[in-house]
Amino acid sequence: MAQQNISIGSVTSWQPENSSAQFNCANGKFSIQFCTDAIVRLRYTRNEFASDFSYAVIAEPQSVTLNWKEEKNLITATSSALQIIINKKTGAISFFNLEEKLLNTQDKNFAVSWIGEQVSLYNKLQDGERFIGLGEKTGNLDRRGSAYEHWNTDYFGYPTNADPLYCSTPFYIGVHADVQYGIFLDNTHRSIFNFGASNHRFASISADAGEMNYYFIGGKNVSEIIENYSHLTGKMQLPPKWSLGFQQCRYSYYPDSEVLRIAKTFREKKIPCDVIYLDIHYMDKYKCFTFDEERFAEPEKMLSELKQMGFNTTVILDPGVAEEKNYSVYDTGKERDVFVKYPDGENYTCNVWPGKSCLPDFTKEDARAWWKEQMKFYTDKGVRGFWNDMNEPASWGQRTPDLIEFDFDGRKTSHREARNVYGMQMARATYEGAQAQLKNERPFMLTRAGFSGIQRYAAVWTGDNVANDEHMLLGVRLLNSLGLAGVPFAGVDVGGFCGTTTPALFARWISIAAFSPFFRVHKMINAQSSEPWSYGEEVEDISRNYISLRYRLMPYLYSLFYKASLNGTPVVRTLALDYVHDANVYAAEFQNQFLLGDSILVCPVASNEKLVKIYLPEGEWFDLYNNKKYSAGVHVVDSPLERLPVFVKAGAIIPMQSLVQSLQEKPDDVLELHVYNGESSFNFYEDDGASYDFEKGKFSQRKISVQQNKIALSEKSGDFSSPFKRMKIYLHGFEELNEAEVNGKKIAVEKSSYRFLNPISNFDPFFLGKDSIGSCEVFVTG
Ligand code: GLC
Repeated sequence: MAQQNISIGSVTSWQPENSSAQFNCANGKFSIQFCTDAIVRLRYTRNEFASDFSYAVIAEPQSVTLNWKEEKNLITATSSALQIIINKKTGAISFFNLEEKLLNTQDKNFAVSWIGEQVSLYNKLQDGERFIGLGEKTGNLDRRGSAYEHWNTDYFGYPTNADPLYCSTPFYIGVHADVQYGIFLDNTHRSIFNFGASNHRFASISADAGEMNYYFIGGKNVSEIIENYSHLTGKMQLPPKWSLGFQQCRYSYYPDSEVLRIAKTFREKKIPCDVIYLDIHYMDKYKCFTFDEERFAEPEKMLSELKQMGFNTTVILDPGVAEEKNYSVYDTGKERDVFVKYPDGENYTCNVWPGKSCLPDFTKEDARAWWKEQMKFYTDKGVRGFWNDMNEPASWGQRTPDLIEFDFDGRKTSHREARNVYGMQMARATYEGAQAQLKNERPFMLTRAGFSGIQRYAAVWTGDNVANDEHMLLGVRLLNSLGLAGVPFAGVDVGGFCGTTTPALFARWISIAAFSPFFRVHKMINAQSSEPWSYGEEVEDISRNYISLRYRLMPYLYSLFYKASLNGTPVVRTLALDYVHDANVYAAEFQNQFLLGDSILVCPVASNEKLVKIYLPEGEWFDLYNNKKYSAGVHVVDSPLERLPVFVKAGAIIPMQSLVQSLQEKPDDVLELHVYNGESSFNFYEDDGASYDFEKGKFSQRKISVQQNKIALSEKSGDFSSPFKRMKIYLHGFEELNEAEVNGKKIAVEKSSYRFLNPISNFDPFFLGKDSIGSCEVFVTG
């Protein structure tokens, strides 16, 4: 096979067919298929196309009306959203929007090229072009000048510039002039994305083998591009509400009395918490689907005691199955032929926690079915949360041999093609197994490894981070970037997994993470205790304050999760999402800022910084804690340890509830509606938070609209009866206000003060200032 670059070359013949067309070229062929008006799939091969198959893409192509034209050297296809032009001489393709603005163009000579088996797409770098997204990738928000590899990797204590990490989502968004577009590579081989690193000519994508199979994704703005990508790869299923609560983990809490002690301490100290974790020491010699008989003699009893205290329990579940006769998981697995093998049929083994282990082939339907059956072991005992770890797959030595074989759902392939989807298929089997057992109860699922589409099965956490400020801030970017890559439910190990956490670091980290989608503290074995009370009284108070704030924000947060489950909208949003063409949001000093939903702007600050420079994008903003009004621009604000700078956008509507210690507990019947002087609307969504009844109409949804002091609530849709029977509206940011109008009815406004946080001490100067706002009470009917 030639080892020099061979490009696709000129188009020799072509054939349009409804929404697609086939092109024969000098050195290969390609096909173009419009999947929707704004999504185009392109496939390239030097030989014949492989049979069509994808773990990532679940959308069926729609029938799209296209206008094909051939003029001289150019072939044009136009949909109602995009125009693509193929240059017959070079084979290179350009993409335009309907205003004829260039979005993206392939390099005129290299377009798609091969070096041996390796296939690459070369796109011309546009002037000032930036690149955002790509999921769990370190580095800057703008990825220009860097290159990244997709190869799921277990990386203990990774440095803040490490690459690759655990989870691969080969999808990014390009931004230049006043346009944006997305590109998704649907090829699971190891791939490299180069955004003008070591060259000034192109942004390229190279896959080790297989087809260049990519999707060009248009959209009027970044949100629409993410929606389109989520249309292709699927959406997060609505998780149980308890998984939005605070979660406490450690490697490992044991025995059972210790687990119960931790849980009780949360309740005694009035620090809300919903989930406690069992890491590998709960098992008998780290063997999955077992409990250690001494440490956890009566798991059902412990799980039910935890449940009574309002805790759900999440257990770790690694893929390695100990190669041990009379261990039923191994025996049945062997009998059912579910393990990954060498090409000669011998089971592949590697060393992981339980010692010499086999790996179930989660790309094999029978293996997934077998694994799903095993899940009964946990669900019968009362476990509702599942945590897939080590599913890159990880092994001691880190060098999984490439020759081992995977079923790949009947297509048979080697580790080279299967590795990146292994974790996702494990998460799929675990999640679907739990769902099958739990019937109408939603399980919670967390994974370390994944590939595009992982959001359909699990939340993602960013693995073994380190206790320092750089990691804390990197974590924010990782979550923002996962949001851009269609994974709305994600989190980091709060406090830092490896290394020693200072009290200040913990306080800051927990304040920031209170605004993140998945909110869990975790700590390494043989390290300090890392519960919110382990760092002294002040940090305990700060932790309680921010965890409690999150619980009170639950009606807002749950509505955001619902929206994410509908269309893939990120829960935490880099400012590049809504202000994509504002250069300031990419500045190193501001790139970590993010929005929780549309309205709450969080400014992450290093633990030792008491003053911080922040950037507020266009519009008006209010300080969350004292309603001070800010205009767009750069500001220097106080950032004492106990108060993370947080701002609320003018027009914001934030539904809140009374404080509960666990989401199993019912809040009181007053819905607090915080309204910030301005204009907007919000879809307030509720359901039972636990079952799938919402799919059958048992939900409640209201559109709430605000125009200064005029508030309108739509009729409720759905037939879930909300626990909120009364409403208290808090109006923020009005100078003088005597009355408000709620659904056309005038209501007198009283002066009131409202605190989002409690004072840390009686001397907290911040809380001595005046913080008057208007409030009015309203009764909701129906
Ligand atoms: C891995 C996980 C970590 C877990 C540990 C023990 O390092 O990333 O979260 O605590 O294994 O199971």
